Amino acid sequence: MHRPIGRHLPTFAPAERRSLSTRFVIHIPATTANLGSGFDCLGLALDLHNTIEVEDAPQLELFIRGEGDTTLPRTAANRVVKAMQRLCDEIGKPLPPVRLCMNNLIPLARGLGSSSAAAVGGLVAANRLHGNPLGPEQLLALAVELEGHPDNVAPALLGGMCVVNMTEGRSVAVSFAWPAQLQVVVYVPDASLSTAKARGVLPNMITRGDAVFNVGRAALWVAAIAQQRYDLIQLATQDRLHQPYRASLVRGFDAICAAAVRAGALGAFLSGAGSSMAAIVMGNADAVADAMRQTAQGAGQPGRAVVLNGSPHGVRIELA
Ligand code: HSE
Repeated sequence: MHRPIGRHLPTFAPAERRSLSTRFVIHIPATTANLGSGFDCLGLALDLHNTIEVEDAPQLELFIRGEGDTTLPRTAANRVVKAMQRLCDEIGKPLPPVRLCMNNLIPLARGLGSSSAAAVGGLVAANRLHGNPLGPEQLLALAVELEGHPDNVAPALLGGMCVVNMTEGRSVAVSFAWPAQLQVVVYVPDASLSTAKARGVLPNMITRGDAVFNVGRAALWVAAIAQQRYDLIQLATQDRLHQPYRASLVRGFDAICAAAVRAGALGAFLSGAGSSMAAIVMGNADAVADAMRQTAQGAGQPGRAVVLNGSPHGVRIELA
C-alpha cells in the first residue's frame, strides 16, 4: 500500500495539553488547483486535512506537528495567526489569546494548498472565536486577499470541485459534488516548488488558439463531471496555458503524467503550481501510483505516491 502523508502523527503530548480544555478543532482540506486546463479557475478539495486545535490560553501560543514543524514560524508571522489577525481587524475586534495546536498533514510548497489551508483555518478560527460574524462570501474574499489564489481557497472553504471567477475585485465560487468513484493519485516529489517561481515562467501574452484550447477543455471538465462522461477527462485535462512552461521546473513531469495515463488514469496534470502531479483514477489507483513512482524514480524525481479521495466538505469546525 502507499504510505499516507503523515497520517500517523502523534497526538500532542500530555504536557502540552495539561490544564487546557479544547474549545474546538478546525479541519481544513488539501486542494488541487487548475486540474490541468482550468488555470486559476478550477479546484478540488481532497481528503487530506490539516487540523488546528484552538484553546483558551493566557497568551498566544503555537505548537506545530508534522509538515513544517521545523520551518514554520511560531510567532505572529505564522500564516494562521496572520489570517486570524486579519479577520479581527476586519471586524474591529482584538485577537483573543489562544493556544493553537496545528497538526499539519498537507505538504508545503507542493501544489496541494497548504497556504490556503493556513489562511482558511486562521480566518475560520478567529471567526468562530468572535461568534461567526462573517459569512462564507466574506471569508472567501478575505482568504483570496490573503492567499491570492481563489482556485485553492474556494475548495478549502466549500469542499467538492469548485469553479471560481474573479470579477470586479471579488471572487465568485460555485462548488459541486465530486463523484465518489473517482480518486486522485498524487505523486508528491521530495523537491518543493514555490508558486512565485512557477508563475514567474508563465508568458504574459497567449495566442487566441491557446485561449480557445483551454476554455473549451475547462468547460469540458465541468460537463464531464455533470454528465458522468469520465472518458472525456483526459481531453479535459489538456492545457496550453501553464503546464508547457512549468514542465522544465518539475523533473520528469511529462513522463510521470504519461505513465499514469498508460497505467489507466483518466487524466494527469500538475497539481496547482506544482511540484506534485495528480492523476484521476477510477478503480486502479495502486497501478497508477506504482507507475508514477517508478517513472519518477527513473527520472531522478524521488517522492511518494498517495491515493486520495475528493473531499465533499470544505473547512469544518468540530466542537469539543
Ligand atoms: N492557479 C494557481 C497557479 C494555483 O497555478 O499558479 C497556485 O496554488
